[in-house]
Order: sequence, then C-alpha cells, then structure tokens
Amino acid sequence: MYRTLVFLSIISGVFSIDCNEHDQNETEGMQLGIVISPIMSPQMIREIAIYWKNDKLRNGDVIGLYEVHPGAPDLLVFEFQPDVTHGFKKTGVSADFLPTANLTFRESCLKYYVTFGRNNTIIKANCLSTHPTWMSQRKSSLGKLRMREIFLPGTHDSAAYAKHQGSRIELIVDKYTITQDEDVLAQLIYGARYLDIRVGRYPNHQHEFWGNHGPFRIVPLQVVIDAVKTFLNNTDEIVIFDVQEFPVGFKSLAAHNQLVDYLESQFSDYLMARPADVWKTSLEEIWASQRRLIIGYDYNNIVSMRKSVWPQVGQQWGNVRTIGALYKHLNKIERLASEDTLTTNPQSQPRAAMAQLTPTTFDVIFDRLGGLRKMAENVDINVTEWYNEEWQHTANVVAVDFIKATGIIETAIEWNDKRAAGC
Ligand SMILES: *[C@@H]1O[C@H](CO)[C@@H](O)[C@H](O)[C@H]1NC(C)=O
Ligand SMILES: *[C@@H]1O[C@H](CO)[C@@H](O)[C@H](O)[C@H]1NC(C)=O
Ligand SMILES: *[C@@H]1O[C@H](CO)[C@@H](O)[C@H](O)[C@H]1NC(C)=O
Ligand SMILES: *[C@@H]1O[C@H](CO)[C@@H](O)[C@H](O)[C@H]1NC(C)=O
Ligand SMILES: *[C@@H]1O[C@H](CO)[C@@H](O)[C@H](O)[C@H]1NC(C)=O
Repeated sequence: MYRTLVFLSIISGVFSIDCNEHDQNETEGMQLGIVISPIMSPQMIREIAIYWKNDKLRNGDVIGLYEVHPGAPDLLVFEFQPDVTHGFKKTGVSADFLPTANLTFRESCLKYYVTFGRNNTIIKANCLSTHPTWMSQRKSSLGKLRMREIFLPGTHDSAAYAKHQGSRIELIVDKYTITQDEDVLAQLIYGARYLDIRVGRYPNHQHEFWGNHGPFRIVPLQVVIDAVKTFLNNTDEIVIFDVQEFPVGFKSLAAHNQLVDYLESQFSDYLMARPADVWKTSLEEIWASQRRLIIGYDYNNIVSMRKSVWPQVGQQWGNVRTIGALYKHLNKIERLASEDTLTTNPQSQPRAAMAQLTPTTFDVIFDRLGGLRKMAENVDINVTEWYNEEWQHTANVVAVDFIKATGIIETAIEWNDKRAAGC
C-alpha cells in the first residue's frame, strides 16, 4: 500500500521550528518513534515498540509499523489504533540482528518505520535511524556553545555491553552487570556522545586494563579504545570519554599514572589536551583544534598533574529503585540546573543526569527487580517523555541504560535545534 518513496518524502520535509506549541501544526507537535526493548526472553529478543504523543488524536487514527524489503513493497507488520494521546506499545515484532560492521557513518534508516495515519493519509512518519553525524551537521548552531550548554545523549556504564544475536538465559551476574546491548562503536553511531567508562586494572592479565561494571570485567579497554578511534576516524563528531570509576587495581597513584600513560599513547592523535579555559571551551574551539576526544578523569590528583585529561563530568546519581523516586531525583537536579549561573558554576563543568534505577545488594541477591533489562524497560520511555516535556530546556548530558530502548537521542537532537532557535 504505502511505498518507501511516500515515506521518504514525509520524513525528509524541511524542518521549520515553531516554538509555540499552541500554534504548532499537529504534525510538528506530534512525537512518534521506534524503540527496541532490552528484554530478552526465550521467545523474543529486540522486540520493537512504538511511542507516540499527539494531543490532537482523533477516533480512527492508526499507527503502523512497516518493514522495508528492497525490491518489494514495504510490508505492514503491525497496526493499532491508539486510544490515548500518549503511550508506548510493544509490537510483538522482533528487529533483525544488525552486526555493527553493517552500520555506516552516514545517517540511515534501518529497515523499520512507523507511520501515523488518518483517513488513509500518512500525516507523520519516522524510522529506526542511526545518527552518526548529528553534531557536525549542526556546527553552525552548536559551535558557540560549551559542553555544559548542549543536550548530549550518553550511555551509562558504556563498556558493560553484550551484543547478542539470539536470546539466551542470562546468568544472574549478567542480569545485573550488562547495561547496554550495543557495543561502543554502535552506541556512537546511534548517536551517544558521552561515554561513562569504569576501568579495572589486572596487572597479571594479558590485557591489563578492562572496562568493568563494579568488580566484574566485561571487555578489554583496548576494544573500547579502538571503537572510539574508528568512530573519530570516520566522522567529525566530538566524544567525551569520561573515566569515572576505578573499581579494581587502583590503590596507588602509580596505577593511575599508568592508565593515563596508556590512554595518552592510544589517543595521542585524538585527544584535546586540557585547555586553559577547560570546560569553558566552546565546541567551535574543539573542532578547530582538530582533536575531538575529551578524556574526563574522576581523580583530581591526576587531573592536576596530567594535561591530557580534563576534570570529569559531574555525574548526578539518585541511587533510587522506583520510578517515582527517579522522577524526584531528576526533577530536583534539573530544577537546580535551571538556576545554574556563572556564579554557581564558574567552571561551566558539564553534568550527567544518571537516568536509571540502581539495585541494592539485596535486590541483586534475591533478584527482586528482575534485572537491569527489566528495570530499564520500566523507566526508559518515561525518561524520554520527561526530557521532552519537562526538562528539555535544562538537560545537559543524560546517561541511560540500553540506549535504543529510549528516544533520548532524537529528543536531544530535536531540543538542541529548538534551543538554538530560541525556544
Ligand atoms: C504541518 O507541518 C508539516 C511539516 O512541517 C507540513 O508538511 C504540513 O503541510 C503542515 N500542515 C498544515 C496543515 O499546515
Ligand atoms: C511511565 O510511563 C507509562 C507509560 O507511558 C505511564 O503509564 C506511567 O504513568 C509513567 N510513570 C510515571 C511515574 O510518569
Ligand atoms: C551485513 O552485511 C553483510 C555483508 O555486506 C551482508 O551479507 C548481510 O546480509 C548484512 N546483514 C544484515 C542483517 O543486513
Ligand atoms: C476522510 O476523507 C474524505 C475524502 O477526502 C472526507 O470526505 C472525510 O470527511 C474524511 N474523514 C475524516 C474523518 O477526516
Ligand atoms: C584511524 O586512522 C588512522 C590514520 O588514517 C589509521 O592509522 C588507524 O589505523 C585508524 N584506526 C582505526 C581504529 O580505525
């Protein structure tokens, strides 16, 4: 029925920004997107879900999910009539596994798109998309800004990933250590620009440094480093590599110096040495330096000694275990941020809202919260909604679990544009 051509003409329409929601036409005011559930059951992995918001919903409106099969008509695989103005619906359709090697450094739609139809006309469409170039495409609007002033999507515990092709039963350890289902290169290609890196040091291991989650080794740090280099090699984007925790093997200052030596040797062609203005540096100046990697380091003694690292991004943890408490935490930090001035934050240090639930030790031992996947599924859509409607003006870095289960990347991109337009 509908063909890709129709679809492309709808999403590639020139985007004009209207700040006033009441004047906005329905299409511009509407949100519609695809997310991928982090839940893995024996029956299902990568279940596609749709989120929408349209205050002008009418009876009979239809939301459809389509698959593109090159050379054949697009296939309608799921359809429903929304009966509330905003919500989230799982489709029972599993997204194909896409190896990272198949992703490109050009923004692309990946096989699935969603349409909002009324009376046999599509009035809005969106696709599951990568965003590998969103910052460099906006050099003119973002250039004058500092990191503290932009809305930057990020991943929590970025190296704690497991990219599974098929479903599997997770060990309890995996249930509470794995926070992402894409590797670091894919996280960046999808649009994350803030990486939260925790390093473990194992002097007797073949790989001395690892990306950890707490005491657990997940992936050799070299793998993460190579992913970041590959991304920087192929784009003109800026990445924050924020070394935030040192859970194993860092009792001495010497160990820290060793890690920084290693990062310097690996990233010598990429890192921007800490400038005099530190975080007051504008994105334009970062681009002009042709060094687009910022390494944050969560240890003052090292920052004062080593020019290659910057003071870390301030992570704002709620350490909460319910969605209501997470809302309160985020609401509090975003309200404080709205009063942020050069007096309260003279260094313009960026901050990261940590938008996930944190299990207690007993939650883990008794598996009370169902694991990080389940916990993420419960909050990721709400986090997206909140950052679209309540805290869009103050948001800085927002770091989430299972980033494809949120719409935070598109939310951030859209609000950077709206902020630039003075909204
Ligand atoms: C609403 O905006 C969209 C996209 O900017 C445009 O294509 C459409 O024609 C507009 N509709 C009306 C009724 O103005
Ligand atoms: C979270 O989102 C769901 C689905 O949209 C909604 O039903 C629920 O009320 C939201 N919870 C909070 C605390 O906002
Ligand atoms: C990934 O790329 C390979 C090589 O080009 C291709 O054969 C394969 O079909 C692709 N897989 C998907 C899921 O697109
Ligand atoms: C649907 O479209 C037809 C033909 O353009 C029109 O007559 C009718 O009023 C429309 N219905 C609604 C509910 O908009
Ligand atoms: C990045 O580019 C440099 C210079 O072209 C090349 O030597 C290096 O192997 C590339 N690294 C990765 C990880 O792609």
